[in-house]
Amino acid sequence: MEQKSRSSFSSRIGFVLAAAGSAVGLGNLWRFPYLAAQYGGGIFLLVYIILAITFGFALMITEIAIGRKTRLSCIGAYKALDRRFGFLGWIAAFVPVIITPYYCVIGGWVMKYLVTFLTGNALAAADNGGFFNDFIGFDAGSIPATMLDFSGPTPWFLIYVLLTALVVIFGVEKGIEKASRFMMPVLAVLSVIVAVYSLTIDGAMAGLKYYLLPDLSQFSASTVLGALGQLFYSMSLAMGIMITYGSYMQKENLLEHSVTQIEVFDTLFAFIAGLMIIPAVVAFNNGDPSQINNGPGLMFITLPMVFDSMHFGTIIGTVFFLLVLFAALTSSISLMETLVSVLMDKTPLKRKPATILVTVVVLLFGVPSCLGYGPWAGITIIGMQFLDFFDFISNSVLMPIVAFLTCILVGHVVGTKVIADEVKEGAGSFHREALHRVMVRWIAPILLLVILGTELATKVFHIFTI
Ligand code: TRP
Repeated sequence: MEQKSRSSFSSRIGFVLAAAGSAVGLGNLWRFPYLAAQYGGGIFLLVYIILAITFGFALMITEIAIGRKTRLSCIGAYKALDRRFGFLGWIAAFVPVIITPYYCVIGGWVMKYLVTFLTGNALAAADNGGFFNDFIGFDAGSIPATMLDFSGPTPWFLIYVLLTALVVIFGVEKGIEKASRFMMPVLAVLSVIVAVYSLTIDGAMAGLKYYLLPDLSQFSASTVLGALGQLFYSMSLAMGIMITYGSYMQKENLLEHSVTQIEVFDTLFAFIAGLMIIPAVVAFNNGDPSQINNGPGLMFITLPMVFDSMHFGTIIGTVFFLLVLFAALTSSISLMETLVSVLMDKTPLKRKPATILVTVVVLLFGVPSCLGYGPWAGITIIGMQFLDFFDFISNSVLMPIVAFLTCILVGHVVGTKVIADEVKEGAGSFHREALHRVMVRWIAPILLLVILGTELATKVFHIFTI
C-alpha cells in the first residue's frame, strides 16, 4: 500500500474481503484454540464473544472511521486528530515490529508440518507431543549447528521470512490475494469437515462441553485480559492496521455493516478452529483437562492426531497445512508491508532497501523465538520464553495501552460525534451509536485500566531470570 497512490477499494465487498483476509490468520487457527483451552474453555469463549460485539465493534469502527476521515495511515492520523496524540501513532506502528518476527516463527512451524505431511511422515507427528517438542526444543549442541538444522525451527523460519519478503519486494500481493480468495473459502469448508469429524471421536463430548459450557469458577482478570489480547490480535486492532484499511475505503461504503461482517467472519473462523481442536485434545487424553494446557503447541500436537485417526488423513492433513500456510502468508505479508510502508513514508528509502532492512530486523528478532524453547530455554523474561514474552508484550501490554489512549482521544478529546458523523456518511445512520459512545467513553477505558493494572501488578513480581 503505497502512500502516493491512495487508491480506494472498488467495492464494499472488496473492502470486507481485504480486511477479513488480513484479520483471518494464525490468530484464529493457532492462537484462539490454545488460549480458549488454557483459560477455561466455555468461559473464555463467552467472554470473547461479549467483548467482540461490544468492545471489538466499538474499536474497529473507531479505527476504520479515523482512517476514512483523515485519509492517512496511523502515524499521521492520530496527529491529525490531535497534535498531542501524534506519539500514539508511533506506538501503534511499533506493535507489528514485535508481532511480525514471532508470527513468522509460527509460519515456519506450519511449513515444517506441511513438509512432514507431504513427505509421508504424518504418522511421526501424531505422537501426542513428542515430535513437536523435539522440533521446537531441538538443540544440536552449538548455536550455529542448531540454526542450520532442519530438525529445528530456525531454517523454516528463515525460508518463511524470505518468502514473505520476496512477495513484499516484488509487490505481487495482488496475485497472492487472488489466490487467497479461493483458498480461504476452501479452508473454511475443510475446517468445518475436520471439526465435524473431531466431534465424532470417542470421548469428544466431554471436550465439547468444556469448550461450550462456561464454568464461572474459572473466571478471573486473566480470562478477560487473555480474551482482550486475542481480540486485538485476531481482528488486527490497536496497531493502526484498520486505520490504514479505512483510509482506502470509499465514503459511500456502509461502514457499520462492513465492520459487522468482518467481525462475524473472523469470530466464526476462530470458533470453528476451537471446535476442530479442543474436543479432540480432551478425547485423546481420556478426558483429562490438565493435558489441554499445551500452550502454543496445541494445534501442532492435536491436529496430526486427528488426521491420523481419519480416513485419507495424510491427504487431508497436507491440504489443511497448505491452506493454513496460505492464511498465514497473507497475514505476514500485510504485516511486513505495513512496516515497509512506514519506512518508505518516513525515510528516503525505496521499496527494495526498506524491505531488506525490515527483513534483517525480523530475522534478528525472530531468532530468539526460534531458539527460545531449545538451546536458550534457560533464558526467561518475567518468567516467559522469548516467543511467549513477545506475544505478551504486544497483545497484553502495548495493544491495551494503544486501545486505552485511542478511547481517551476519541471519547474525551475529539468526541465520539466525529466518529459517528463519519460512520453516518454514506449510510445515513449509525444503529449502535449509543453503544459506541458509552463503550469508547467509559466502559472500554475503565475495563482496560483495571485489567492492565491487575495483570501488570502480578507480573511485575517476576524478574528477568537466566
Ligand atoms: N489478525 C491476524 C491473525 O489473526 C494477525 C495480525 C495481527 C495481522 N495484526 C495484523 C495480520 C496486521 C495482518 C496485518 O492472524
